[in-house]
Amino acid sequence: MGKYRGKSTTVLRPKTTQEVSEIVKWCNDRRIGIVPQGGNTGLVGGSVPLKDEVILSLSNMTQVRSFDPISGILVADAGCILQSLTDYVAPHNHIMPLDLGAKGSCQIGGNVSTNAGGLRLLRYGSLHGSVLGLEVVLPDGTILDQLTTLRKDNTGYDLKQLFIGAEGTLGIITAVSILTPPAPQASNNVILALPRFENVLPLYKTVKRQLSEILSAFEFIDRTAYDLAVKHGQGRALSEDEVEGAECFVLVETSGGKREHDEEKLNTLLESLLEADEPLINTGVMAQNPAQFSSIWALREGVTEAVSKEGKAYKYDISIPLSTFKECVDLTRERLRSKGLLSEDKVKAVMGYGHVGDGNLHLNVVANAYTEEIQDALEPFIYELVASHRGSVSAEHGIGAMKTHALHYSKNEVSVAWMKRIKAMFDPNGIMNPGKVLE
Ligand code: MLT
Ligand code: ZN
Repeated sequence: MGKYRGKSTTVLRPKTTQEVSEIVKWCNDRRIGIVPQGGNTGLVGGSVPLKDEVILSLSNMTQVRSFDPISGILVADAGCILQSLTDYVAPHNHIMPLDLGAKGSCQIGGNVSTNAGGLRLLRYGSLHGSVLGLEVVLPDGTILDQLTTLRKDNTGYDLKQLFIGAEGTLGIITAVSILTPPAPQASNNVILALPRFENVLPLYKTVKRQLSEILSAFEFIDRTAYDLAVKHGQGRALSEDEVEGAECFVLVETSGGKREHDEEKLNTLLESLLEADEPLINTGVMAQNPAQFSSIWALREGVTEAVSKEGKAYKYDISIPLSTFKECVDLTRERLRSKGLLSEDKVKAVMGYGHVGDGNLHLNVVANAYTEEIQDALEPFIYELVASHRGSVSAEHGIGAMKTHALHYSKNEVSVAWMKRIKAMFDPNGIMNPGKVLE
């Protein structure tokens, strides 16, 4: 993002958990701050040193430790790249329970540390459910071995949960045990063009009812995000006729056990949507082959890259009621307009996209530069808006360096106080990823 910068002099790339432990102990004894770094693809500055901390990169820890093809349980070093794990389990007809645009460079340890959500959460749930065990180096160098491969282990406090989403502030995840689901026998997708945002919710209801168990993703892109993705060459653009009059788009994915059965369901859904008295969609384009399937996904996954190519991104990753998605984007745009900031040389675009099925909106503002003026117009305005809906200021990207000051909009005083106590207990010297998550 080019938004956060530090002045580190040192990057260490240990190869084993023992080496991580020795480094951490050495740093702890000397009160040297450490920033754990995975693929460095986060969007809230969580893996960037803010001062002169040592960067501890997990990129040399890339071994798969074990895979059980019967249970689907995979145990892997934290530095394994998500795509390489997907490739590893594919011949066994399994998939990773998470998928995200950064899959080619993000690492599983970082995914777990940030509790990354992504495109499969609707179907396979969050990492709090699919992670079965962790190996963690604690801030004093102790190795906490909780690398169990048990589906069920109801023996008191589930300590590993504390490290999922802790963004490296309580310790360094060095290995992950994760449940990989069986690969669906058949997947398909369709991109639907909608005349109005108001149709998204009734559409979601209809799609859920008609596709039931084979629905695996329901993703939303507004027109601005779609146009930007197309402008920057992401995925397969629809024809002019197909996009005409569309205010937004929805990507629906199915994953099921039998191709003919699933296609019939998807076709029936499309027909009923198009033939309705008051159609919720203008048109729908269904993938006819694997290349088209990937290309439809690339449109949605490529929005992030398109935004970065267009300018400097102010990214808000929020959980709010589905019915308020559009209102939040519109109010933000209006706010910027009223401050005289909506112009080609200041803010170029305001857009919404994200995971409708998870109630997660990505509200992005693309500007020419990061400026105080824009920042002040957006914050705390957006956070207050989110809080007014009792939403979350971070649905899936984490707190990092970006939102430490905004944590209180989603976590009450008692919760923050307990988070601070937990942090102090694990890391009394404050060496683990300083300045992240908690102020
Ligand atoms: C996404 O859903 O595309 C990601 O969370 C990244 C982003 O918000 O840009
Ligand atoms: Zn997302």
